[in-house]
Amino acid sequence: MNLSSLIKSFTEENKLKTFPRPYINHSVEFKKNYSSVERAKMLEKVGLNVFFFPAEMITGCDFLSDSGTTTMTNKQWAALHLGDESYGSNRGYFQLIEVIRKTFGEEFFNSPEKGLPNAFLFHQGRPCEDALFTALGRLGNGQIIPSNGHFDTTAANIEINKIKAVNLFSKELTDEKSTSHFKGNMDTIKLKKLLKTNHQKIPMAYMTITNNTGGGQPVSLANICEVAEIVHSYNLPFFIDACRFAENAWFIKTYEKEYKNKTILQIVQKIFSYCDGITISFKKDGLVNMGGGLFIKNNGFFMKKYPCLPEAILDYQIVKEGHPTYGGMSGRDIMALVEGLKTVVNEDYLKYRISQVARFGQAMLDNNIPVISPIGGHAVYLDINKFFKGTKMKPEDFGGISLTALLLSLYGHRACELGFYAFGSYNKETRVETHPDVNFVRFAVPRLRYEDQDLMASVEAVKALHNNRDLIPKVKVVYGRELTLRHFKSRFAFEK
Ligand code: F0G
Repeated sequence: MNLSSLIKSFTEENKLKTFPRPYINHSVEFKKNYSSVERAKMLEKVGLNVFFFPAEMITGCDFLSDSGTTTMTNKQWAALHLGDESYGSNRGYFQLIEVIRKTFGEEFFNSPEKGLPNAFLFHQGRPCEDALFTALGRLGNGQIIPSNGHFDTTAANIEINKIKAVNLFSKELTDEKSTSHFKGNMDTIKLKKLLKTNHQKIPMAYMTITNNTGGGQPVSLANICEVAEIVHSYNLPFFIDACRFAENAWFIKTYEKEYKNKTILQIVQKIFSYCDGITISFKKDGLVNMGGGLFIKNNGFFMKKYPCLPEAILDYQIVKEGHPTYGGMSGRDIMALVEGLKTVVNEDYLKYRISQVARFGQAMLDNNIPVISPIGGHAVYLDINKFFKGTKMKPEDFGGISLTALLLSLYGHRACELGFYAFGSYNKETRVETHPDVNFVRFAVPRLRYEDQDLMASVEAVKALHNNRDLIPKVKVVYGRELTLRHFKSRFAFEK
């Protein structure tokens, strides 16, 4: 018997559940050692606001964000050296044109010498949003932009321009019995209703893939297609917030039968064939530490409806960020991005990435820790209402803030409250606190950074806190309860 046929029959009978990472460590950084007492003192000093806690003192995992926290590949580090810092038309710019066209579609990046300006580079995601919504805001007051779930900066950039940001979460997102794999979808019944009564006020519709505010849940291609059809039937443009486009494509390949045999790149191209524009923070699925872009489809509904806006956006970019051939990015960052966009659609990478986050979430579930299920692409979301069910913790006690403070000081893992505090609001005059629909603590998993052992250590820590949830004290807000974007700025203290 030859070896090839032997291993074939052998592996078929002995299918393994675990598989090695599709990469190796290229270089590592040793952490410093801090005790829980040292961390507690520091956390008190920064008013229990984990954003202000020095990252150097994190001895466990830093789950604060998956944004800009990616470990770059050796090819990306090598590409940095090839960065060209010329003020105009640097080497990387031409490579980026090619890779954006290849990834999202030819129509998203016109050559500089012909066509309307339609591709705008920025230093991260939010200035892309600001550029777009500043331009749209000038069209008049009383506008509304619906989405399957606006990210917090997206909503803030919309509202700062006096436009209303509306979230049309799917019913499945809050339906515990639902086994849908696409809880990030937009509720199209609500969308149709909103368009029927208010279409004159709606300049465009938006879709976030994956749905970060909605539990990091993916969106199906069927939903993307349906939303596009509905929106286009009113001659309105449809945009995608594409931060985690490759992760979303992986879920489509895995759970939508028609796309099982398509490559990730084919699925990505299909997704973007339905939309008229993209905003993207490359700090997520660009696999880089800085970078963002706004890309408007040539001949799409946006270009047709608002032919004057691209020029206004171009002026905004030149005034606020830089020449269009580098925008807000350095030449070396552009080179790293070109490499990152090639890597992120690699199926071995994505398979490991999504399965690692799934293993992390499953370990939480196996330990009876209430997390949003199915597990999304970039993070595990702890359901705080369920976590504290049966205890004395009330919504206005902000249990999610207490939990993140204790997890960081006791066990050295940093997670992020994205719930009643982050998305709620307080009226100082009436002293009324308004709660949002969702109450999560998010464990965002940085890309290519941690091994499973790190994640399992944090599951054990959360379990220890869950077992002792009756002992977790409430917090009072010492500063900033009435502020906008208050979770970034507030200070807290434990109640006695
Ligand atoms: N859109 C989505 C869906 C995001 O998740 C983010 C950032 C942005 C836009 C803005 O991009 O940070 O580059 O300005 N999300 C990070 C997070 C901050 O932790 O989820 P940015």
